[in-house]
This record gives sequence, structure tokens and C-alpha cells, in this order.
Amino acid sequence: MSRDLVELAKRRGYFFQSAGAYGGVSGFYTYGPEGATLKQNVEDAWRERFQVREGHREIDAPTVLPEPVFEASGHLDGFDDMLVECPECGESHRADHLVEDNTEIEEAESIPIPEVETLIADHDLRCPNCDAELAGQSVEEFNLMFETNIGPGSSSPGYLRPETAQGIFVEFPQLAEYARNQLPFGITQIGKAYRNEISPRKSIIRVREFTQAELEHFVDPEADEPPLDRVADVELTLYPADEQEREDGEYLTKTVREAVDEGIVHEWIAYYLGVGKQWYESIGVDMDRFRFRQHLPGELAHYSADCWDAESEVDGDWIEISGYSYRSDYDLSKHDDHSDDDFTVFKQYDEPTVVERATVDPDMSYLGPEFGGAAGDVADALETLAERDRTAFDAETVTVEVDGETHAIPVEKTGFSVDEIKETGEHVLPHVVEPSIGVDRVIYTVLDHAYEEDEIEGEARTRLALEPEVAPTFVGVFPLMDKDGMGETAREVTADLRAAGFDVTYDDSGNIGRRYRRQDEVGTPFCVTVDYDSLDDDTVTLRERDSTEQVRVAVDDLPDLLADLRSGDLAFGELDAPTPDQ
Ligand code: GLY
Repeated sequence: MSRDLVELAKRRGYFFQSAGAYGGVSGFYTYGPEGATLKQNVEDAWRERFQVREGHREIDAPTVLPEPVFEASGHLDGFDDMLVECPECGESHRADHLVEDNTEIEEAESIPIPEVETLIADHDLRCPNCDAELAGQSVEEFNLMFETNIGPGSSSPGYLRPETAQGIFVEFPQLAEYARNQLPFGITQIGKAYRNEISPRKSIIRVREFTQAELEHFVDPEADEPPLDRVADVELTLYPADEQEREDGEYLTKTVREAVDEGIVHEWIAYYLGVGKQWYESIGVDMDRFRFRQHLPGELAHYSADCWDAESEVDGDWIEISGYSYRSDYDLSKHDDHSDDDFTVFKQYDEPTVVERATVDPDMSYLGPEFGGAAGDVADALETLAERDRTAFDAETVTVEVDGETHAIPVEKTGFSVDEIKETGEHVLPHVVEPSIGVDRVIYTVLDHAYEEDEIEGEARTRLALEPEVAPTFVGVFPLMDKDGMGETAREVTADLRAAGFDVTYDDSGNIGRRYRRQDEVGTPFCVTVDYDSLDDDTVTLRERDSTEQVRVAVDDLPDLLADLRSGDLAFGELDAPTPDQ
């Protein structure tokens, strides 16, 4: 099936490996005319569901960012995969994938490197390229980021972003201003991300340049709650970490509300699993081949406190198509620490509150001679202690530790006092909830789940049963023959439907049956045929891809009918007297 789909994808203009004229380049794919439009439609549907309906706003950040961004984010240190090289042919392999492919282990990414080396030896794993033994080869951490230089020379290294998210986090202070410093608010971005995968595979499923659709929802963890009611009844197929770890572990079927009430999923993540489930279903992911799987503890990305992947079943394997991650304040606190900007939001209280604050105002004419170069550190330690434990100043002397040495200071020299001050608010470091969609993998899933082989009047046909909402070509218009005025009329119908906003293909080549089969394979939901009757009565036949049924409709009604069929307001079967395909 997979090979058939990949062949169909190339033949019909969905996607193909890039730079074929030069032997192809591994991990890079070009979307053809159908694929690029399908991708656009999927992205538009995502925007509509995750952004517009949720009230979030979109930005467009650069794909190259300077090194300090990724030092702060942890990607320079922690964004690695396990690499093992073949001692014979030199081919590089992902060690965890070799383990998964050759043992019963499903999530080897979470296994520490020394154990992976042992597994390679114990299972006598061999190079998939030349069959040489890999036992004894060291497994290394390989950073996945593509490095580049910003400007001439190498003094300003930069990296192609490994996730669109960092382009949002690094601009948080500015974005918070646009949101009038009010939490919660969400920022989305759809764009390219890059990972120098050790071994790209499975066509567009694991590539080196790919498209992400990400939402970073900034929330106050103490005060903000998701609008759970909107998706409370959505049913989720869940595979929690503890079920995965049990020998007889199984899926749980829970509504969003149950998943939250029973403490299975964090409320913000559960909310977006509900939104996500509705969205995947609307674009044609088969819900019998879909689940949400929680990451195992060792599998979590360095920034993630908890994560659930949306996974689809493709060719007998489960593939991650999106991650729903609770990133807590990890990213904003890192950028707050590493940069000069303030990544907090000032939260105004409804009413100012009066609080007691313990402070010190040390007598430096005493601390200086007494502690020399350490006097400043002693003063800082006194300040910290006053904030933490004011009772330490109840006695005549107070002790602090600086660089492992304990110092006793007379309290009267510390300038200790407790004052009442009025506070109008507090600085909050927002937490981040992140639905992150791998657009290419969603597209592969949508195509795979739409791929059907059936028979029409004894003749085999292949069709892509794509949802009308995302189908790249929405309608095919054919003249029965390009003669006696039928071609002209069909071209006029084509122009009118294009003007009404439909993706239309016009085709007058070959017999009509061949033209239908061609559009079935492209996944075009509807075809319109202009015949001799059309010239007399201004009607055409409208044919539905999946049932192959046809109905006669007035040309003037076509735009409205097709719009209703695309939106789902009208089902084809509701049209008058469909007749079997001819
Ligand atoms: N931003 C999450 C990811 O790239 O996986």
C-alpha cells in the first residue's frame, strides 16, 4: 500500500523526492500542484480550528536564528538523536530505530545510551546497508540542528530553527505587549523547520525540512482554566504511559471531561486533545486508526513536563503526527535568564494589597573592614535571608554562609527592618501549552487513510476518498467531446466556477470513463459533464466520486450546490434522483 501511495503521489502531483535530476536528495521532498494545494487546504483548516476559532493570532518569524537563542532554549545541548556508524561501509544509523526495528521494544528513544549499546550487542544488530556487525560500536549523541553562518566569516553562528516555537518564545516580550499584557493569549505560526535527521525515511514522514503548525498558548498556571465545556464530550482514545509500561496495558476511551476528572490528562492538554480530535476527523483521518499516546518519562523532550502525541496507523506502524506538550515556564524562564529582556507579565491585582516585607540595609563601614572582598556577597546573603526567614534576625547576631564559610554579623549592623508596602500586582512567568502539528505527516496520513481500491463495473479503480474540505482539486469539468459547442460551454462553466472560488480542472482528453478514473485517483470529489442536452437546456451532469452516482442540475445552480457540498451543508444523496455512473 505504501509503495502504491508513494507512486500515486508522484504520478498525480502530490509529492516526490527533490532534485531527482541530480540523483535526489535524501530527506527533502517537493510538493507538486495537487500536494501543494492539499497542504495549503490542511493548513487553512488548521488555522480555522486552532487559531481563528480559539481567538489566537499568527506571526511569521525567521527560519534562521542566532546561536544564543538555541543556547538558551537548550537545543544546542539537548537536541540529539542516537547515532551509530557502520565500521565497514560508514553508513550512519539511528541506534534507537535499529533497536525498535529488530526487537520487541517500541520506544527505544527513551533508553539510555549504554543500554542501547548493550542491546545492539545482545541482539547482534547489523548494518542494514552492508550487514556488518554493529556490536562494539559506540553510540554517540548527534545534534540535529543545521548550522550556518550569519554574514561572512564564522563569528556569528546561526541555526535553521528546529521548531517554529523558538521564533515565538524569543519575541515574547513584544508579543505580550500586543496582547496588552493580559494572559492567557495564544500565538500560532505555520512554517518550515529543519532537522538534520540521521536516517530520513518513509517518504515525507521523516524528512530534513518539514512544515510545522504550532500554537504556543501562554497561560497563568495559577489563574487560567481552559474552556473545557466546548469539547467536554469529545471522546478520546488514550494510551497513558502507565498502560504502555504494563504487560497487558490497553487503551482507555474517555471523554475530555472524564480524562481531566480522573486525573489522566492535564486539563489544558486535554482541552487541545479535544480540539485536535475534532480537527483530525474533519480533514479525513480515520478515527479507527488514531490514538493519543502519552510520552514515557525518558522520551520527553528537554523542555517538556508532559506530552501526548497524536498518532495515526500507517502501513501497520503508529506514527507521531502531532505533539501536545505542557512546556511549563521552561522556555520563557530560559530566555528570561539568558537575555536582557523581561519575559514576565505584570499581573495587576483587583485591589492593591498591603504586605509586610523584611529588608536589610547593611552598614558597609562595618562589613567592608570585617569581610574585605566578600562584603558584597555577605550583604546579598543577608538580603536573601531576610526575605526567606526573618526570625533569623531575632537574636543579637545573625549567621550567613558565603562560599562555604559561616559569618556571624551583629543584627544592629544589618539595618534589618520589616516595613508595610502596598503591592499593586506581581510578575508572572507564563506557562506554555503547545499543540504542535507535523503538517507533512498529517498529509501523509490523510492520503493513506483516503487511499481505496475498488471495482466499478468489473474494472479496478483507485481513488483517494479525500474530504471535500481539503481535496486540492474540487471539481473536474469535462465536455463529452470537444465539438458542437460542448467544449466552449465546458470552458465557460470552468471559468465561472473558478471565479466562484473553486479549484477546477478542465479535461477534454480521452474517453469520459478514463477522465473520471483520473479524477478519482487525484481525489476530486465531483465532476461536471457538459453533453448535448446541456446545449438545449443549460443543465449538466454532476457526478460524485465515492458513489459514482450522477444527477442532472442546472448550470446556474452549480456554484451554490458545490459550495453546500463542500461545506457539508448538503449531502450528494439529498440531490434529486441520482443515477448510476455511465
Ligand atoms: N515544538 C515542538 C516540536 O518541535 O516538536
